[in-house]
Amino acid sequence: METVETDVLVVGSGPAGAATALALSTYGVPNVMVTRYGSLADTPRAHITNQRTMEVLRDLGVEDQVTAQATPQPLMGNTVFCTSLAGEELGRLRSWGNDPLVQAAHELASPSRMCDMPQHLMEPVLVNAAVSRGTALRFHTEYLSHEQSDDGVTALVEDRLRGDTYRVRARYLVGADGGRSRVVENAGLPTVGRMGVAGSLNIVFEADLTHLTAHRPSTLYWVLAPGATVGGIGAGLVRCVRPWTEWMVVWGYDLEAGPPDLTEEFARSVVHRLLGDDTIPVRITSTSAWTVNHLYAETYADRRVLCAGDAVHRHPPSNGLGSNTSIQDAYNLAWKLKLVLDGTAAPALLDTYSAERAPVGRQIVERANRSIGETAPVFEALGVLATSDTEQMWRNVDARKAATPEGAKQRQGLREAIAAKVYEFNAHGVEMNQRYVSDAIVPDGTPDPGFGRDPELYHQPSTRPGAKLPHAWVVRGRERLSTLDLGGHGRFTLFTGIGGDCWEEAAGAARKALGIELVTVSIGPGREYEDPYGDWARLREIGDCGALLTRPDNHIGFRHPEMSPHAGELLIGALRKILGHG
Ligand code: FDA
Repeated sequence: METVETDVLVVGSGPAGAATALALSTYGVPNVMVTRYGSLADTPRAHITNQRTMEVLRDLGVEDQVTAQATPQPLMGNTVFCTSLAGEELGRLRSWGNDPLVQAAHELASPSRMCDMPQHLMEPVLVNAAVSRGTALRFHTEYLSHEQSDDGVTALVEDRLRGDTYRVRARYLVGADGGRSRVVENAGLPTVGRMGVAGSLNIVFEADLTHLTAHRPSTLYWVLAPGATVGGIGAGLVRCVRPWTEWMVVWGYDLEAGPPDLTEEFARSVVHRLLGDDTIPVRITSTSAWTVNHLYAETYADRRVLCAGDAVHRHPPSNGLGSNTSIQDAYNLAWKLKLVLDGTAAPALLDTYSAERAPVGRQIVERANRSIGETAPVFEALGVLATSDTEQMWRNVDARKAATPEGAKQRQGLREAIAAKVYEFNAHGVEMNQRYVSDAIVPDGTPDPGFGRDPELYHQPSTRPGAKLPHAWVVRGRERLSTLDLGGHGRFTLFTGIGGDCWEEAAGAARKALGIELVTVSIGPGREYEDPYGDWARLREIGDCGALLTRPDNHIGFRHPEMSPHAGELLIGALRKILGHG
């Protein structure tokens, strides 16, 4: 049987696999990506692309391509709650960074803007860039099984066009094969939770809905009508794919009864029900049934097999975390694979992948599932859960218009229930506050300051080891750069300032001793980079002459508040620990 050799075999070309291949190829690591089907995602699927993901894509050099195709943040902004698109509006929530107060936080947190990039547009950007940088992509190729030895993994794959099988021999295998991951199953990774919590239908369609949507631009229009609570994501949803002519409806079905027959007639009837106007011409382009899952893997790796994306965290689309977390998994993993493969780091560095990402996966699975439950109070406030009689339900919805104390109470209850959905539609902290604790983070002995405000809603920058490098605009001559642009690029970066010469010397010694790529960045008047707004000085939490070491994924690995006569020893010791040597 034929055997193909590579350094990393990536199974799956969804956001997790494509981003892994892209990062690996960007870092010069030979890789083969196999995918079972003959095409990339052919339906919109995941779409909300948060700031942290955009930062990752910026570092991987594809941010501009994504921004060029995505629906921009201002058009994502009003989550609308209504009885149908043409029917009564029940309320709106400023979402996805479009509340003026949150807008400022987004502006301050990152050089990158959130956007709406449907998966069928995102995957080609990632995959084209990966292939153009060296990834060998094989469509129609299904992973079947694998075996591990001390120095590699041999996977058996099937060429579905030819109908024969061959082996791929790799040093590592990345299982990014989605929510029904065979790699996870074969690797025996322990999981918590369950699949199939509720049933949902996706109906993709074309219709010109400009007259119903352009005056209240949004990515999501929630239809809270009697019957909308059946299964699925907690309500009927009309989601914008391309403003304002391409759409997707998400509608629940009863899991016990099984998915309905997805005929065109059925699909059109659901769409028209949510639009509230049967006269609108609708062209159905695809339908599919899926289940809401509530499951995460406790560990993401079994020796040389490492898993990412939906393979290890399976949850509903609430909060829009699916592809975001998948791309971020890839970014965490790729630099570690590179350094282990080129011998710079010990294999122990790869253990930190699971240690750092599994807690994030667990958190987002819990958050996304909780968000579904948090829709119930909106239905409660409308009175549609209080009766099974549909006519009574509509009377209850109407009761909020009454000039009575009960009416006022209902109006207030509805406002509060909609406002509480901020945890789904404006959870900046969930998106940006990831802090790692692992052997690839060197604690600096400072106590965890915790969070001043709700960590799910508010981003709190920090330079405490484990946190992501805070964004600040600095300048070099006429050029404006984010601190995040100075780090990343697959290498370590040491940030210091005036009086930090000992750290620059230490970096030189570390480069020599460890053979790593480590750049130094000095920020201050008369240095290569200046901090004209004083933003960096406010955020860095160290003195001018202190040091911050960022890893290739722009997370802080080590910091020291001031100059030190032992700078070389401290920095080399920290890097050795991060690299798994000590
Ligand atoms: P993803 O499922 O995207 O990719 C898996 C990849 O593995 C695919 O390329 C597949 O071909 C490949 N593969 C699987 N088994 C293989 C094998 N044995 N051998 C080789 N290749 C194999 N999210 C959201 O936020 N909003 C939404 O509306 C939706 N809607 C939605 C609809 C449908 C139909 C699906 C399947 C998923 C969604 N999602 C979603 C979820 C979202 O798409 C998901 O979170 C991300 O795509 C996860 O990215 P991954 O790369 O991990 O898996």
